[in-house]
Amino acid sequence: MADPPRILRVNGDRRPVRSAPGRPLLEVLREELDLTGTKYGCGEGECGACTVLVAGLPVRSCQVRLGEVGDRDVTTVEGLARDGALSPVQRAFLEVGAFQCGFCTPGMLVAATALLRAHPSPSRAEAADALEGNLCRCGGYGRILAAVARAAELAREEGREP
Ligand code: FES
Ligand code: FES
Repeated sequence: MADPPRILRVNGDRRPVRSAPGRPLLEVLREELDLTGTKYGCGEGECGACTVLVAGLPVRSCQVRLGEVGDRDVTTVEGLARDGALSPVQRAFLEVGAFQCGFCTPGMLVAATALLRAHPSPSRAEAADALEGNLCRCGGYGRILAAVARAAELAREEGREP
């Protein structure tokens, strides 16, 4: 097991952490760094509520140990906005109203961001595939997929990263 990083790179900041290397990244984010946007759903890798980006790729932070992150960049839902402005994905979810209770929303936003950065114009089926592991217990999948399509449009229109 790697030594714990003295510094965790998260949302563009270098944050000192004291947690043991075996602690789940989700706990470190929420309990040590107060980044509570990332949600604890199942704790078993099944729901996607805890999705964050590590080196740009979506991972379930409940299943990743702090020691596995090393010096790779972590992005949580708090890190999606840029220069005080919500990202195209965040604005699209608001515009479409792609949430009810909102518990799945941070994980959906992060997963959708990863999808659109890799595939700027996914079909509805491709988006559904990419978000398949993110569960919405409110059943809001129709609006979520509509929001992904709208986010792709916004990013294209504005010429900015999703
Ligand atoms: S809390 Fe991590 S996948 Fe459900
Ligand atoms: S909006 Fe409630 S879980 Fe998705």
